Amino acid sequence: MNRTGNEEKKVALVTGGNRGIGRAIAIKLSEEGYDVAVTFRSHSESVNELERICRGNGSDFLAVRADVSSFEQAKNLISQVIEKFPRIDVLVNNAGITKDNLMLRMSEADFDSVIDTNLKGVFNCTKHILRIMMKQKSGSIINIASVVGEVGNMGQSNYAASKAGVIGFTKSIAKEAAPRNIRCNAVAPGFIATDMTEILPETVQGEILKTIPLGAWGKPEDVAKLVSFLAGEESSYITGQVINVDGGMVM
Ligand SMILES: NC(=O)c1ccc[n+]([C@@H]2O[C@H](COP(=O)([O-])OP(=O)(O)OC[C@H]3O[C@@H](n4cnc5c(N)ncnc54)[C@H](OP(=O)(O)O)[C@@H]3O)[C@@H](O)[C@H]2O)c1
Repeated sequence: MNRTGNEEKKVALVTGGNRGIGRAIAIKLSEEGYDVAVTFRSHSESVNELERICRGNGSDFLAVRADVSSFEQAKNLISQVIEKFPRIDVLVNNAGITKDNLMLRMSEADFDSVIDTNLKGVFNCTKHILRIMMKQKSGSIINIASVVGEVGNMGQSNYAASKAGVIGFTKSIAKEAAPRNIRCNAVAPGFIATDMTEILPETVQGEILKTIPLGAWGKPEDVAKLVSFLAGEESSYITGQVINVDGGMVM
């Protein structure tokens, strides 16, 4: 990002920024010149390390402990971010969980918690940030969906439903907010090496690998590069899209 000395720094909020894909996104955006806010629920040491990296890149940094599935905590999160920074240019709804099981074994609690975090969490943060972006007459919202939301997956009916919901939500917000120069896009990763996928049995990992034409799992940085593009001016004519980062897995 090229900037003159007088220009105000842009601000990005990444939910679930303390590890995995969210952490890579926070680092990439700080490298691109954004001030960065992240949420975390645990792992405070990793947040300290992230802060050191972002500040080392010249970014101001804020970490807020927040559970995005809570409407009130999301409201408080956005208040804290706007109190520290004068604006919020980019929201990356990244926080997400899995609670996999075949339908016959899936508990109501496991269905609800995945929907509450992955889908309601996106609603909660977007709801509280949209008014601010509307006043600014600018903003970019990027929702981390999944290829599973496009094609489904055995044992992931809760997760697939949440991510398909995120895709529908993304397109609706893109239509609603476009008149105020706010864009909303979804990124759909395939299989990316993080804590979320590390728990899969080795045999399952091997089977997944066979379905990826580029022959390798993705890295969090692969997702971060696309998010950075969608955040900034270079994607100014792109909204309402779902872009896969999956090594060609779904095409
Ligand atoms: N890895 C993949 O292959 C893959 C593929 C497709 C889509 N995705 C999506 O990419 C996103 C990031 O996944 P990841 O692989 O980086 O997962 P991860 O390593 O498990 O990290 C998940 C992040 O979400 C945060 N989080 C979870 N529940 C939260 C809640 N209720 N409130 C606030 N934060 C919460 C976690 O915070 P704590 O550390 O505090 O728990 C953590 O920062 C998710 O939306 C996931 O569905 C991942």
